[in-house]
Amino acid sequence: MHLHRLERIWLTFGVAILAIFLATVTTAALVDGFVPPSHVQSIDPAKVSVTPPFDKPGLHKLANGSYEAYYVAHIFAFDPHHLVVPLGAHVTFYVTSLDVVHGFSIPETGVNTMVTPGWVSTVSHTFRTRGTYLLVCNEYCGIEHQTMADTIEVR
Ligand code: CUA
Repeated sequence: MHLHRLERIWLTFGVAILAIFLATVTTAALVDGFVPPSHVQSIDPAKVSVTPPFDKPGLHKLANGSYEAYYVAHIFAFDPHHLVVPLGAHVTFYVTSLDVVHGFSIPETGVNTMVTPGWVSTVSHTFRTRGTYLLVCNEYCGIEHQTMADTIEVR
């Protein structure tokens, strides 16, 4: 097969770039232990319902006065539903997924993370304003993705 010289140069260039990208990603994953941001804790997605504290999703108060909220995302809902949070609470959210990649976003708070099965995503926020906040999935997760939303009430 005859390849034009310029075509051969372009093909070589393209393959070389692909090889460099693959080597970079592989090195980052294997040598540097690189994982997606904030995903530092792993969990068996098939055993979420029997793995404490995800077996009882919801808000937990800590001894120091701050809160932890454990959330399970699945098609097409969040568990717990309608979380109630005291005004001024500093809440650390721990979120995992039972099935596919979901999003966990509370608009106007800076809370926004991807939720991946097998991993626990962590994000914190201090709720200084009373009201009902929207919680939405912002990763396309299937046919009813647009219905995957819930509320967090701060009072
Ligand atoms: Cu879950 Cu979109």
